[in-house]
Amino acid sequence: MSDDSKAILRSRNLSSNDTSGATGAIRTTADKTSKVPLLAVEHLVKNFGPIRAVDDVSLELYEGEVLGLVGDNGAGKSTFLSLLTGYYHADSGTFRYRGKPVAHTSPATSRRALKIEMIYQHLDLAPDLTVWQNLFLAEEKRKFKIILDKRYMIRRATEVLAELASKIKPDDLVGALSGGEQQVVAIARALLFERDIILMDEPTAAISLNKVRDVLDLILRLKSMGKSVILVSHRLEDILEVSDRIAILNRGTISHVLTNDHQMTITELAQMMFEGAIQRTVSVASNEELAEGRN
Ligand SMILES: Nc1ncnc2c1ncn2[C@@H]1O[C@H](COP(=O)(O)OP(=O)(O)OP(=O)(O)O)[C@@H](O)[C@H]1O
Ligand SMILES: [Mg+2]
Repeated sequence: MSDDSKAILRSRNLSSNDTSGATGAIRTTADKTSKVPLLAVEHLVKNFGPIRAVDDVSLELYEGEVLGLVGDNGAGKSTFLSLLTGYYHADSGTFRYRGKPVAHTSPATSRRALKIEMIYQHLDLAPDLTVWQNLFLAEEKRKFKIILDKRYMIRRATEVLAELASKIKPDDLVGALSGGEQQVVAIARALLFERDIILMDEPTAAISLNKVRDVLDLILRLKSMGKSVILVSHRLEDILEVSDRIAILNRGTISHVLTNDHQMTITELAQMMFEGAIQRTVSVASNEELAEGRN
């Protein structure tokens, strides 16, 4: 850990616990040691040919927390999320859900066993269908296995939209909704099918600035409902506002996991992200020093 990092942590009164000296990772003690994480991944690795996009990542996600995930372009954030959704298969590594190992291999396991729902940047919705039809798309409720139970689906859609304090109506056409409103529909789908973990990759990148507030409020609402969120964003001000903890990815590895004290500035966070990038380019000798505890 560099003197700069230490100074930032000290000035913020954050404890640090260097758990992997060899990579120089900084992990703050988040006072969660007694709790079993909702999701824990250990030593995840994903290679694309010669490129190691995710390099030995271990991370926990707790119930009702927002975990901010930041890092430079190409750091491996989206690839990491794709390992969680089962879109990509990890070359190695393990997954635990509420402490139990899960043999995680596919999008179906991700949804059913890990209770994960991903909110894609290019939302996976049918624009020419209504909100309630989108909510139940491919998972329609039927009476006697034949007749569509439209009344039930509209009622559940109304309930779940109310839970999200949204003004959207079940009969609204999805194509006529704004980007932020379409995200509400995607999230409502996650609630409807009782997913516990919501992954969001740059949810505010494609929407107008005045809708950013709505998305941040939505994230905080999900948290207040006990859901866990992993938020990937280049908008550090958003990360600092809504995250309980912040993980910094640097060239596929986690360089820091910080508890957010809501006093850290964008500059300080950027400095820690940037410093991670520098750390990796310095000589092997300094890594050896870290490993020997001489940091
Ligand atoms: N399908 C793929 N095939 C080959 N290489 C890939 C593939 N997907 C990602 N990569 C590489 O893996 C690395 C991590 O990419 P990833 O998209 O996960 O980064 P990111 O942190 O999400 O970046 P950004 O902030 O730009 O979205 C990059 O070097 C990228 O070029
Ligand atoms: Mg990405």
